Amino acid sequence: MSIRSSLQAGALIVLLASVGAGCGPALPEQGSADERLYSLRCGGCHPPYEPGLMKPAMWGIMVVRMESELERRGLPRLADEEREKIIAYLSRHAAD
Ligand code: HEC
Repeated sequence: MSIRSSLQAGALIVLLASVGAGCGPALPEQGSADERLYSLRCGGCHPPYEPGLMKPAMWGIMVVRMESELERRGLPRLADEEREKIIAYLSRHAAD
């Protein structure tokens, strides 16, 4: 990699990091597959909520409630695997 292109890559990383930070505090496990799935599926209608806001049982209820929001708007519901991963992700970082 040339010096020039690695400088450009560095600038891009700084840019992406600041865009992420612009949406409020970074989510736990930022950049991981689970965090990206959560942001994608739970950040489309409102910014993704911070997992520490609720207890695991509340997240289970919220995810089901949000699935009816998806249905109401004619959007695809969560696949079983997506629902499990999102609830597990939220529960790992939930309030206790
Ligand atoms: C199709 C749009 C849509 C998607 C996708 C969506 N939400 Fe929501 N969400 C809403 C709306 C509309 C509200 C406000 C009404 C309500 O609270 O039911 C809301 C409110 C919330 C609230 C605040 C509730 C409260 O009582 O203060 C939380 C937390 C939340 N969503 C979590 C999630 C999670 C977790 C996901 C992913 C599983 C998700 N949302 C995906 C539309 C959506």
